[in-house]
Amino acid sequence: MTPAHSLYEALYVSTLAPDQPASVVAEIAGHARVKNASLGITGLLVFDGMRFCQQLEGTQKQVLKLTERIRNDPRHTGVEVLHHGLLAERRFRGFSLAFTSVDDTEVLVRLEQLDGEAAMAAFEVLRAELHR
Ligand SMILES: Cc1cc2nc3c(=O)[nH]c(=O)nc-3n(C[C@H](O)[C@H](O)[C@H](O)COP(=O)(O)O)c2cc1C
Repeated sequence: MTPAHSLYEALYVSTLAPDQPASVVAEIAGHARVKNASLGITGLLVFDGMRFCQQLEGTQKQVLKLTERIRNDPRHTGVEVLHHGLLAERRFRGFSLAFTSVDDTEVLVRLEQLDGEAAMAAFEVLRAELHR
């Protein structure tokens, strides 16, 4: 497989733009679900009312392209990619965009402090809690 077609993932955190209502997340998720399915992208979007955390997985080419597009979206600010790299197998097979909201705003504040493998490990804990 060429690198462009390898399975890849990215994880970022960002903050809702000050001029945006929290309800915009429904619009974003509705559109993203359809779009991601057509791109072979799966992943999870977490929202705590103010901060976003999103993991995207798919081919390297699609993940990097989509991450750049999302980074330039004025509906959020301060996009910080905590980790991106090759992935052995999908974490969210079957979900073009799983979505969850968390009530405890400390969760994403803590995640934002981490990067690389530590960020992915914290994300995995968050993911496991969501399935309970
Ligand atoms: C927090 C956040 C998450 C987003 N996630 C996705 C996504 O998973 N997939 C997607 O296509 N667009 C996502 N978007 C929207 C993109 O930034 C962009 O508006 C969209 O891809 C453009 O789609 P279009 O080319 O059909 O207009 C997200 C935007 C924000 C603010």
